[in-house]
Formats: sequence, structure tokens, C-alpha cells
Amino acid sequence: MKGIKLFVVLMVLSLSVEVSRSQLSINFYAASCPNVYKVVRRESGGPSWRVPLGRRDGLVANQTGANSNLPSPFEPNHSIIAKFAAVGLNTTDVVALSGGHTIGLARCALFASRLFNFSATSSVDPTLDASMAADLVSLCSSSSDGNATAALDRNSTYAFDNHYFKNLLIQKGLLSSDQGLFSSDEGKAATKDLVVTYSNDNQAFFGDFACAMTKMGNISPLTGSAGEIRKNCRVVN
Ligand code: HEM
Repeated sequence: MKGIKLFVVLMVLSLSVEVSRSQLSINFYAASCPNVYKVVRRESGGPSWRVPLGRRDGLVANQTGANSNLPSPFEPNHSIIAKFAAVGLNTTDVVALSGGHTIGLARCALFASRLFNFSATSSVDPTLDASMAADLVSLCSSSSDGNATAALDRNSTYAFDNHYFKNLLIQKGLLSSDQGLFSSDEGKAATKDLVVTYSNDNQAFFGDFACAMTKMGNISPLTGSAGEIRKNCRVVN
């Protein structure tokens, strides 16, 4: 229910932005939808951070580029860390931003490899909690197209908090890339300690998440006359 409310709020925001302004300016969002921050934070919780203005959308989409540059949930820890490093984000940023999976859903197609024919010795990924695995096997068996969805942060799907990290400690991470932060051999060396820290300290997670989001927003932004400010965020003008 909260997810639906949040979605409605964001729809209203995007529509009101579209009709009220076509150019960004100081207080753009405050003027076009004055209460959105309060409403979003009330629904989900979570930290806030200052978002620099002047960012513009690109004019083209590049599926090949997105598939090769964005990390996949099947990639090992070191490979995800390397992709983040290539854009100036460090290992702390990897762990903190993975905490974005404190909300939302993923489709079976993105985690079913953990559930069926996992290895020669185990049909299910042994780093996945057994009762959660049974639920997911049932869910994904009933979905022939792989589009059934499960919570990324089981038992805390729509609250923005450190429950995602608590779940990793008890093998309830949904994606292989999530659980790998805590359970893989590479993760034990590189990321596990920070997962434990965040699982114990919500404020440490919020602080690092806000910092990493700001860094991510500064990766090669289009400014000046490059790209455009969209009137409708889903399509080029
Ligand atoms: C670390 C590398 C990451 C990987 C491998 C990854 C992978 C994924 C995958 C596979 C899904 C499910 C998509 C689907 O079922 O269609 C997903 C969903 C999601 N991801 Fe990530 N992600 C990563 C980083 C991030 C970051 C940095 C954020 C934000 C800070 C984020 C926020 C989300 C959210 C909110 C969803 C749920 C979307 C929804 O419910 O519609 N992810 N991610």
C-alpha cells in the first residue's frame, strides 16, 4: 500500500513539474510540488541530501552501453567494485548504494539462478536462507515468464532503513550481488565488515548513502547546452 502511495506521489510530482515549468531554476521543485519531500520521506523514511541543479537528460538511449557499464546482479563482488571505481566510486559507495535495495522488487529472472540447478552439489544457493529459498522456488515455479516479483528487502519492502543489511547477515539477501557483499569469499575480504557496521548503525548507513548519492550525481553530468531538460521525464522533448 505504501508503495502505491509513493508511486502516486511521484506521478503527481512529474505531472506538476511538466505543466508548471519547462526550465529548471532555483527552487524548481519547491515551487512545482512544495510538499513532495515531506510526503516521500513520511512514506518511506530515509536520509535526505542536497541535489545539485543543472543536470540535463541525454537525447539518446544506449542499451549496449547500459548493459556493459551497469553492474549486473550475476557479477562477482570484485567486478562490481571495479565498475564503480571506473566512475570514481569506492568500495564504501558500493556497499552504501547497494543499500538502495532497502526498497523495491526484483523479478524472478534476476535471481532464479540461485534457486534451480545452482551447482553440482546443491540445487539451491547455500548462501540463501532455506525457508526464503522455498518461498522463492514456489513463487518462481509459478511464473513461466520470470516476471513474478519478490522483495529486495524481505519483511521491510517499502521502509528505507538498514534492514537490508540485517537481512544479509541472516542470508536473506535476494540478489546474488546483494548476498555476495556479506557471504562470498571476495565479499568477506572487501565488503563484509561494512555490511555489519550498517546493520548495527542506521545513521552510519544514512550518512554514507547520502554522500554516495551526491557523488553518483556528479558522474559526468550533462550541463550547459548538452542534452535537454525534459518536459515529460519518460521521453525526449
Ligand atoms: C550494486 C549494483 C547493483 C545491482 C547489481 C543492481 C541490480 C538490481 C536488479 C537486478 C534489480 C531488479 C530489476 C528487475 O527486476 O527488473 C534492482 C532493482 C532496484 N535497484 Fe538495484 N542494483 C544495483 C545498484 C543499485 C543502486 C546504486 C540503487 C540506488 C541507490 C539501486 C536501487 C534499486 C531499486 C530501488 C530497485 C527496485 C526497483 C523497483 O522496485 O521497481 N540499485 N537492482
